[in-house]
Amino acid sequence: MARRSYNSNGGIGFICVCVVVMSVVVSGRPTTFLEDFRVTWADSHVKELDGGRGIQLLLDRSSGCGFASKRQYLFGKVSMKIKLVPGDSAGTVTAFYMNSDTDTIRDELDFEFLGNRSGQPYTVQTNIYAHGKGDREQRVNLWFDPAADFHTYSIRWTHSLIVFGVDDIPIRVYKNHEAKGIPYPKQQPMGIYSTLWEADDWATRGGLEKIDWNKAPFYAYYKDFDIEGCPVPGPANCPSNPNNWWEAPSYQSLSPLEARNYRWVRMNHMIYDYCTDKSRYPVTPPECVAGI
Ligand SMILES: *[C@@H]1O[C@H](CO)[C@@H](O)[C@H](O)[C@H]1NC(C)=O
Repeated sequence: MARRSYNSNGGIGFICVCVVVMSVVVSGRPTTFLEDFRVTWADSHVKELDGGRGIQLLLDRSSGCGFASKRQYLFGKVSMKIKLVPGDSAGTVTAFYMNSDTDTIRDELDFEFLGNRSGQPYTVQTNIYAHGKGDREQRVNLWFDPAADFHTYSIRWTHSLIVFGVDDIPIRVYKNHEAKGIPYPKQQPMGIYSTLWEADDWATRGGLEKIDWNKAPFYAYYKDFDIEGCPVPGPANCPSNPNNWWEAPSYQSLSPLEARNYRWVRMNHMIYDYCTDKSRYPVTPPECVAGI
């Protein structure tokens, strides 16, 4: 009896180990939400899906919500798949950004998805803060409905350039022009953040279109979180290691295909560029002159 019972326990134990090992291998990268992130705003409005591989953010009259990475990173590539608020999303803003969390010399890389009335295009606003100075907004209207399906949004950050990608198509590039005295984020690590909130005083058609609370709650979905970068705190030599894949020569500028796609976005989908806004900047900002 003792032996049989030992055997059967052993058998069950073995099956359990198998399942655990398999699920680890299958998930690999992308990781689960809670492995790398934590909820920072309104726990009740963030729901894990699919065993933690995805999440749902909710915005209603009582609150928006948000999450952040547990660690900060210095250089690398961050990506996630997002499905934005569908239908009448005017007045809602979904953001995905990196931020150094330092008040005076803030570095920040922003994606902001500005909702719109049903049938009107979502706008993606990007902005870059380097050493405390922002005000570098650009806007593109997306060429697909980002609420119909998941799409991949990424930030690639190397010593030479920063690339904002939508399904691997660059929509924004910020080059390191330090040699010309232009600030470039590279001294401080940044955390990864996301929020869903109401900003109908400015978001849609400059604040003319208000949020329709009758359509609430509003939902955005996330999955396939992928962070490849140097965690800080972490190995001290990681950020300067030339063997990191993102520091390879081929990633220090756009590939020919990326450059072609980037031109296509700028020619066909860009609706605002601070570089050419003469009423705001009578003198063209130096990074625009140096080439973006
Ligand atoms: C919303 O749609 C209008 C009309 O097509 C467009 O002008 C605007 O850029 C869109 N985006 C926002 C955020 O207002």
